[in-house]
Amino acid sequence: MVMVKRRPNSTLKFTLAVFAGAPFAWLVYLISLEIAQPTSGLGPDPAEGLLHYLGEWSMIMLLVAFSVTPVRRIFKQPLLARSRRMMGLFAFAYVFLHLLAYIVLYVELSMQQLLEDFVERTYITAGIAAFFGLLAMAITSTKGWRRRLGQNWLRLHKVIYLVVPLALLHLIWLRKDGFADITLYILWFVILLGERAYQVRKSRQAATV
Ligand code: HEM
Repeated sequence: MVMVKRRPNSTLKFTLAVFAGAPFAWLVYLISLEIAQPTSGLGPDPAEGLLHYLGEWSMIMLLVAFSVTPVRRIFKQPLLARSRRMMGLFAFAYVFLHLLAYIVLYVELSMQQLLEDFVERTYITAGIAAFFGLLAMAITSTKGWRRRLGQNWLRLHKVIYLVVPLALLHLIWLRKDGFADITLYILWFVILLGERAYQVRKSRQAATV
């Protein structure tokens, strides 16, 4: 029998992919419960249940993707660098499904309703702006785009520093009560920003020595 030995990089990538795909697999299970017996999987209002589930995981995956570089530096795990794109694409996939659920179940494919929401509801404006930021990053995440854009690629991907606050604003503006998870998300984001600011300062100091 031929033994296939996994390289450490592919084992790490596989583990992270399982972690990032698990909420989606769980959602498929919840939907199957829902189909078998209405309101048994996604709660009393299944459309709202689906939208909130995907929204919550969009936020978490976004922060996980934003954590890859600081975690790689703090725990000295260079292999993590190769999973950054994959985690970013997972975050994008959850946001895309969240947006799709909103378009199909909330505005029922009405472009006019979507535009009205975009203009009248600030949390929708922030959500859509965050989505387009992520879309630009997802499209240009390939090696080809990286080569073509050169230094501008790095500039473009700094849009993540806008995407995460926009996503947080979306959440703050739509929530009416219960801010415990939002506080945790903001704290998580501030810690990651702190680590990044520290690294920038350190490399500037090293350059002036
Ligand atoms: C990075 C992008 C986004 C993130 C992280 C995100 C996150 C979330 C989260 C966590 C919730 C649940 C809120 C709660 O439990 O109270 C939510 C709800 C919602 N999101 Fe998003 N979202 C994003 C983008 C969008 C976009 C692009 C749209 C639509 C254009 C959208 C529309 C909604 C709606 C309609 C709700 C439910 C509001 C309600 O309960 O009345 N989101 N979102």
